[in-house]
Amino acid sequence: MCGIVGYIGSRRAADLLLAGLRALEYRGYDSAGIATVVGGKLQLFKVQGKIAALEAKVDRDDNSNCGIGHTRWATHGKVSLRNAHPIVDYKGQIAVVHNGIVENFLSLRKSLEYKGVSFSTDTDTEIIVNLIAYNLYNGESIERAVKLAIDSIEGYFAFAAITSLNAESIVVSKRGAPLILGIGEGEFFVASDAMALLPFTRRVVYLEDDDIAIISSKGINVWDKTFKAVERDYEVVNWDPVSAEKGSYKHFMQKEIFEQPRAVYDTISGRIDPLDKRTILEVELPKEIDRIQIVACGTSYHAGLVGKFLIENLAGVPTEVDYASEFRYRNPLLSDKSLLIGITQSGETTDTLRAVELARDRGLFTLAVCNVPMSQITRITDETLLTHAGPEIGVASTKAFTTQLVALYLLAIALGESNGYRFPHLIEDLLHLPVLLDSCLRGIDSLDGVSDVIYRSDSALFLGRGINFPIALEGALKLKEITYIHAEGYPAGEMKHGPIALIDEKMPVFGISGVEDQLNKKLKSNLQEVSTRGGKLIIVTPTPEAFSGLEAYLIPVPKSNQYLQPIVNVIPLQMIAYLVGVRLGLDVDQPRNLAKSVTVE
Ligand code: F6R
Repeated sequence: MCGIVGYIGSRRAADLLLAGLRALEYRGYDSAGIATVVGGKLQLFKVQGKIAALEAKVDRDDNSNCGIGHTRWATHGKVSLRNAHPIVDYKGQIAVVHNGIVENFLSLRKSLEYKGVSFSTDTDTEIIVNLIAYNLYNGESIERAVKLAIDSIEGYFAFAAITSLNAESIVVSKRGAPLILGIGEGEFFVASDAMALLPFTRRVVYLEDDDIAIISSKGINVWDKTFKAVERDYEVVNWDPVSAEKGSYKHFMQKEIFEQPRAVYDTISGRIDPLDKRTILEVELPKEIDRIQIVACGTSYHAGLVGKFLIENLAGVPTEVDYASEFRYRNPLLSDKSLLIGITQSGETTDTLRAVELARDRGLFTLAVCNVPMSQITRITDETLLTHAGPEIGVASTKAFTTQLVALYLLAIALGESNGYRFPHLIEDLLHLPVLLDSCLRGIDSLDGVSDVIYRSDSALFLGRGINFPIALEGALKLKEITYIHAEGYPAGEMKHGPIALIDEKMPVFGISGVEDQLNKKLKSNLQEVSTRGGKLIIVTPTPEAFSGLEAYLIPVPKSNQYLQPIVNVIPLQMIAYLVGVRLGLDVDQPRNLAKSVTVE
């Protein structure tokens, strides 16, 4: 999703802006640009495509010390050079980079046009820059011009602006979308997330919604939503930038798949009392919880579906899972003893944030399961259970997913313990999980046979039952986003109610099996129905003997308990998506149209 950077200091701004944009590449983008002020005039460089192309375009003689930059992920207006940011105002004196959506775009545009303001792009960003410009040219100070602009905007945004009328400052504001400031030695940075700041500074200022900040080489001035001048303290980020580098791996996705034993270990560390075999979670939850509502999107939603199984089985608390985007608009029935859990890798997903706010506004206790410390969600929930996957750069979620499952397993056990249950064996299994994942990764380097079948296919079906049904969904999601091959996940027992019509000798069908005999028997008969109709079976299973007699390509995986088995099972599915994507020559780290943090609805 759109990424914003800004720099002011004594170094060449273009270099720092390009470095910042490269660090934000992982968020996904289709065009990029920077703006500086040179000789009292705005200087713009934009490209449709990659940062490398932008780098080649930037003027070598541009020695400006102040500027803004952007990676765009198109929402309003198609992908084009004209719509790429920075966007300038109708007199060409102010440039803005923006992330978010101006919902009352049309009415604001009409009223500005009525006042004689002209537009030359299809973007909603042009509304912001023209609103600021109109106020500024009518004699307002820059901070007041921005205040008047944001007060008339409906929607969520983060933006940074520079003007040729004052080449010595950057003005920023945010509402609902991420934007942070970095403090260096005699220099300041603006960025959408900490990843872009880590190479330069660890001291960051998190702005509040509707804050306006002016950053100059002298410091940062902030006005809050009531337009009162306020101080915002900085915090120190302790993420390790080295762990975000590819090292000897070809792709971030590959690296992140292989990091899973470590990521899982880090997520468990310090949360188990090894002698007592109990959880010691850092979060404090209300004593009485009568139901749990989980909200999330995409892969995190699949983690939520596994979480429902875990919580209902281990803690006995009825749990519902909703796509955050659906939850917000369905008038959910919630009791005041409900616990709301928002699951999100980035902590920035707009739909998830708004769903959490809805629950919070109804007085519910809210808990975030999140991978990014100090991200937006951690600021609006009562408690946060961090997954310790480390920075996830590949757009497709891998280690973030498995660590979410671990966090939910720990949480379900902790809730069960608070209801008087004990699970020493489940704790032992969890402690053994990193080793199991390691041996799973070492055992699955021979998936070429499967990737051979898949890469020639137009479509694939993923079937699972019980706690492994969400893994079927996740396997299908990984395959479609990385390889662009159509894939669907289905509960195996549902196949005969429709999808069976798709089965022919060209259709690969994945069966994802758990460890329970009874469910494996049922799964086997469902897969038999596929085989009878000529479908090509691929079975991921910890119990290959349960599927003997079926004509199938078996992918044996190490065996755990029924609640942890999904974490093991998903690994070969991630790997297959990765291998097929690479084989098709696709950009596996940044698949088309996708964004790492989805900061629009
Ligand atoms: C899929 C994927 C997405 C995200 C979704 C939610 O591989 O990465 O489906 O899971 O956009 O993102 P977060 O977890 O950051 O809220």
